[in-house]
This record gives sequence, structure tokens and C-alpha cells, in this order.
Amino acid sequence: MLNILIFGGPGSGKGTQSDLITKKYNLKHISTGEFLRNEIAKGTKLGIIADSYISKGQLVPDDLMIDMMEGLIKEPHDYKGFIFDGYPRTVTQGIALDNKMAKNEMNISTVLCLDVNEDILTERLINRGKSSGRSDDNKDTIQRRLEVYHEETEPLIEYYKKQGKLSRIEGNGNVEEVFANITNVLNKKVEK
Ligand code: AP5
Repeated sequence: MLNILIFGGPGSGKGTQSDLITKKYNLKHISTGEFLRNEIAKGTKLGIIADSYISKGQLVPDDLMIDMMEGLIKEPHDYKGFIFDGYPRTVTQGIALDNKMAKNEMNISTVLCLDVNEDILTERLINRGKSSGRSDDNKDTIQRRLEVYHEETEPLIEYYKKQGKLSRIEGNGNVEEVFANITNVLNKKVEK
């Protein structure tokens, strides 16, 4: 199985690149942000709770996210592996995912960290905010999302570096350039 984890700051291209990766490598795309936005649209209990955090640019609490991920991993599928987009976002979530994968005799094959300059991230999200309707694509919330990324998610870089799984991806270029950087890394994993 090829199980990929993709992370990076808000607007770094996780969703865009995951769509391309899933098609090329036949993987199941799990986007926790997308899942939560669907729950919000449906008005479920989880959606109502999630909305109160997302609209402020904060993370949804770990216990809710860990439960949610357990359910998503269990769903049967015919893909060649998973791509986790936006999960884990804290070291606590990372440990929970490693434990869950080990219990199911799986592991994370590689971790892609998209490196994008902060001014580019902000510009992308402000642009998307003009039409996305997302409650978190506005200047103040984007700033908070960046802070939360540095404080709570960036420690995962060290966590996966210690496991020897981290690949830094230059993510400032256009979509095709970034995808080429990613396939350079993933093709080597597939060939092994
Ligand atoms: P989530 O949906 O994961 O939001 P995010 O991390 O802020 O990332 P985005 O979806 O905004 O951006 P992206 O990196 O996917 O980039 P994209 O491809 O869309 O999570 C939202 C919220 O849910 C979180 O803030 C949190 O509250 C909650 N949440 C989710 N998971 C959680 C978890 N595990 N624990 C706790 N809470 C959680 O691209 C962005 C824009 O840029 C698009 O318009 C795109 O077209 C454009 N673009 C992409 N690539 C390029 C490029 N190379 N060049 C030019 N434009 C580009």
C-alpha cells in the first residue's frame, strides 16, 4: 500500500495536489477539512461544533478528529492506499494515526510537506475568498490559521523527520511545477 500524508500551511495546495495524486496513484483521498465542511452544510451535530472552530481559524479538538478518522479509515475501498490531506494537524493526532495504522497492519509510506512563502499563501486564500464562500477565507481568519499552523502543526515536521519519512516539497511554483516536484518523490517510493 502507498499511504501518503500531505501537509503544509493553509492554502499551500494540499487539496489541489491531492486531487492530482489520487488520480495518478489510485489512492483514496481523505480530506478532513472537506469532510467537516460537508458536515457543516448538512447541519449535523459535528458540523455545528466544527463550524464554531473553523470560522475562528482554530483547530477542531483532537478527540473529535481522532474519532472521525477512525471511522474514515475503516470504510472499505479498492484503492492502492490513502492520501491524508489536512490530518494529522497536531502531534497528538499523528501518534493516534500511527497507532491506528499499526493496528490495521498499515503504515505511512511518506510525508509530503509543501513549503510555500507566507505572502503567497495569503494571496491565494484572499483570492479564493472572493468566490469560495468559506467562512475562514478572510484576512483576519487567514492570519489566525497561519499562527495555528506554526504553533500546532509545524511540530509534526520534527515528528516525521525523526521517523525518516519527511520530504520537503518546493510549493511556490504553479500547480504543474509543484506536482512534478511531488511525483519525483513518489515515483521513487512506487519503484521500491
Ligand atoms: P482545511 O480545509 O484542511 O484547510 P487549510 O489547511 O487551511 O487548507 P486549505 O483547504 O485552505 O488549502 P489547501 O492547502 O488545501 O490548498 P488548496 O489546494 O485548497 O481545514 C479547514 C479547517 O478545518 C481548519 O482550519 C480546521 O479548523 C479544521 N480542520 C481540518 N482538519 C483538521 C484536523 N485534522 N484537526 C483539527 N481541525 C481540522 O489551494 C488553495 C487555493 O490556492 C485554491 O484557490 C487553489 O486553486 C490555489 N492554488 C493551489 N495551488 C496553487 C499553485 N501552485 N499556484 C497557484 N494557486 C494555487
